[in-house]
Amino acid sequence: MNQASPARLQLAVLISGNGSNLQALIDAIEAKTLQADIVLVISDHAEAYGLTRAREHNIATAVVSKQDYPKRADFDAALAALLQPKRIDLIILAGYMRLLSAGFVNAFENRILNIHPSLLPKYRGLNTYERVLASGDPQHGTSVHIVTEDLDAGPILAQARCDINAGDTPESLKQRCQQLEHQLYPQVIQWFAEGRLSIQSDGICLDNQPLTTPLDM
Ligand code: GRF
Repeated sequence: MNQASPARLQLAVLISGNGSNLQALIDAIEAKTLQADIVLVISDHAEAYGLTRAREHNIATAVVSKQDYPKRADFDAALAALLQPKRIDLIILAGYMRLLSAGFVNAFENRILNIHPSLLPKYRGLNTYERVLASGDPQHGTSVHIVTEDLDAGPILAQARCDINAGDTPESLKQRCQQLEHQLYPQVIQWFAEGRLSIQSDGICLDNQPLTTPLDM
């Protein structure tokens, strides 16, 4: 897993909790459907279960916590100090619950991806399942987007959607959406690995053509 080869995409994954999306990436790498290596998993919580998942697969881990770095600038400097010495092609936010500063985002411009549980631009922020159920929308889903300094607002790369059923609860909807996430995130990253998705001077390209609307999976 950690044997870097120059041709393979090198990933750092940032988590805060369960890490089921991290697990989906690990599984896709092991199944060879994702040509990438996870170089480092960083959590802002030492007890995050995702750290256990990483260690079980011999992936290096680190904790950068608010307790150790109460000032945002110091926190983000500590994160950057872990990442900058390594060759990292993409920083993958997978349930990472902290906002990254503009300085950090700019230092890794266009190289940070996030997965957010809504059909962006709808329902940025927290509690998306509760909010969509209250709205009466017929569908919900999940989006992979590039991280900018504004929360959940960067360019959207791809989305996957599901119907909302009568009787759905936030938990039942979350389960269905997370199943979609576990397919969508490895696929989008694999497109970067293949060079199909790329960030060029005129924006995001798929197969060298500007991506004008998010890919609908
Ligand atoms: C995911 O549902 C993702 O959309 C959101 O946080 C959740 C993390 O879940 N950003 P997990 O830790 O990957 O299980």
